[in-house]
Amino acid sequence: MKTLRIIVLAIFSITVIGCGGKEEKKKEGFSYEKKSEVSKKAESNPNDVIITSNDAMQFNKKEIKVKAGQKVKLTLKHIGKLDVNVMGHNIVILKKGVDLTAFAAKAATQRDNKYIPKNSEDIIAHSDLIGGGQVSVVEFDAPEAGTYEFLCSFPGHSGLMKGKFIVE
Ligand code: CO
Repeated sequence: MKTLRIIVLAIFSITVIGCGGKEEKKKEGFSYEKKSEVSKKAESNPNDVIITSNDAMQFNKKEIKVKAGQKVKLTLKHIGKLDVNVMGHNIVILKKGVDLTAFAAKAATQRDNKYIPKNSEDIIAHSDLIGGGQVSVVEFDAPEAGTYEFLCSFPGHSGLMKGKFIVE
């Protein structure tokens, strides 16, 4: 009887250990699969753009390139800690021919409208104004091929926070 019990126990342990191992492998495989799916998606869609901004009044990109004739999904992240009233950021893409400095001066007076001039015809698209730790996503149709300018319209920021939005 004793021998039989030991054998039964041994079989039971092997089964449990075996199952545990399998489960771990499955989990690992799943997480890898997920990661590669995400990176593939980002690589295959150049119009899915992420730009970050920080407490040092900077964007991490001076140039954004997208393809014409497709939707653009532009994600602005504020990776700093400062409040929106102190170090607020947005991203505004201007129509061709709009003077960036003149636009920034006008926008700076529009505090009640988050520094976006009301009914402005100068803008292709803009994100929301955000503070540290926040994210804003804006989707729009890519304009015709060409080079456009983008900026943060928070007062005093556009000197550093600006760049080219290139549609190919
Ligand atoms: Co800013």
